[in-house]
Amino acid sequence: MGIEKSYSERENFTSKVTSYFSSLSSAVGLGNIWMFPVLTGLFGGASFILCYVFFALLTGIPVMISEYVIGRRTRTNAIDAFRVLGKPYLKITGFLGLIGCLFILFFYSSVAGWVYAYIGKSLTGGFKDLSSLSMTKANAASQEIFNHVINGLKEPFMLQLLVLSVVAVVLILGVKKGIERLSKILMPVLFVLLVICAVKGLTQPGASEALKFLFVPDISKLNSSTILTAMGLAFFKLSAGSGTQTTYGSYFTDNTNLVKNAIQVCISDIVVSILAGLAIFPVVFSFHLDPKSGPGLLFNTIPLIFSKIPMGGLFMFLFFLLTGIAATMAMLSLVEPVVAYLSNKKSLTRNTAILATTLLIALVGFFTVHQGSYVNSIQLFGLNMSFFDFFNNVSTNYLLPIAGILFSITTGWLMDSVTFHDEITNGGILNENVYMILRFVIRYLTPILILIVFLNSVGILK
Ligand code: PHE
Repeated sequence: MGIEKSYSERENFTSKVTSYFSSLSSAVGLGNIWMFPVLTGLFGGASFILCYVFFALLTGIPVMISEYVIGRRTRTNAIDAFRVLGKPYLKITGFLGLIGCLFILFFYSSVAGWVYAYIGKSLTGGFKDLSSLSMTKANAASQEIFNHVINGLKEPFMLQLLVLSVVAVVLILGVKKGIERLSKILMPVLFVLLVICAVKGLTQPGASEALKFLFVPDISKLNSSTILTAMGLAFFKLSAGSGTQTTYGSYFTDNTNLVKNAIQVCISDIVVSILAGLAIFPVVFSFHLDPKSGPGLLFNTIPLIFSKIPMGGLFMFLFFLLTGIAATMAMLSLVEPVVAYLSNKKSLTRNTAILATTLLIALVGFFTVHQGSYVNSIQLFGLNMSFFDFFNNVSTNYLLPIAGILFSITTGWLMDSVTFHDEITNGGILNENVYMILRFVIRYLTPILILIVFLNSVGILK
């Protein structure tokens, strides 16, 4: 008979469309607009993208679907879900996801702060001078603006606090009102703006070089760290393995087609990432910037594009505003599982849980936000990296994929197949073949692939 469906008093999303947009609003964020171009630049372009798409399809989507299944079946948070499923020992999966969310928030909130700064600067004409400068000088000026934003003592921290306050306020207003309404309106607008930026990018002199960089793979550039990073990015991008898709899945309607939803989210997400790449890389190649320039890539190139087009100031403001909103919505999805878990524990009200979580992020964030300063460095177990890189690396490349293995093992092997079948086919209505293929992928391909990548990255498997 399988595990009973759970019904509860909690708010649910009201339609299939909202299930798509809410899940998408978690997926689309700084991962597309900031991290994807940065990593694509660092790891050599098309071969990295190809690898990323491969992992998105074979690990990201299956784990996302597993999370949806677990969330919708149990209608609770990513930790208690395992208790409801009768597998309390697997709560560790949810905990790994939650720690992943927190680690991500520790660095994500600081990048979101930079975006907020750029919203303010483009609104107050902070980039006006760029338009009258020669390209070389404009480029230098743009880099200086970025350095100024990230290197101050007070400013980065205040910006991070601002971001966190916005997140807390939206969450206090409630799941439905906050997330549902925002995501449906803003996602399409962000998409249109990215299309404008990409079209602008494609008219730059460096466009053909950029297209080659983005779409003509050179497989010889692949090595174990490229592969590990591409897999990590697939998890990070799709918010898979973090428990956020479990939490959102728990609000889905019973008639949402989980497989279709995951595929649609993944395709939209890849399209948004590619658009960001099309906007940024032509500028990089036109002005002989270094594609490997790291976290500043987005912030140095976008002002250059907009400084040279009519009404560029307005467009730039809109671009950063929407990026800021996308980042904020992704953060809502990162905080939500932590809050949902804490507030299901009797001792904490939802609002106290929200405040406690944001306070913790601000406390740890104080260390990650100060780029290049002595407080932002970690010398642990022979590591010598910034807190920023540490949290980024551990959460993206390890915590999410490890939780991902456990999510897929749960749905593929441990959950009874009647329940799994019921969720995938919506009680037998949907296509049986899709179920059969998916079951094979989730049981074998996904966990084995993740394992191989790990073994390869530590040199056990060459
Ligand atoms: N997917 C989000 C982005 O691309 C980040 C994220 C990761 C959100 C994990 C939730 C969980 O920006």
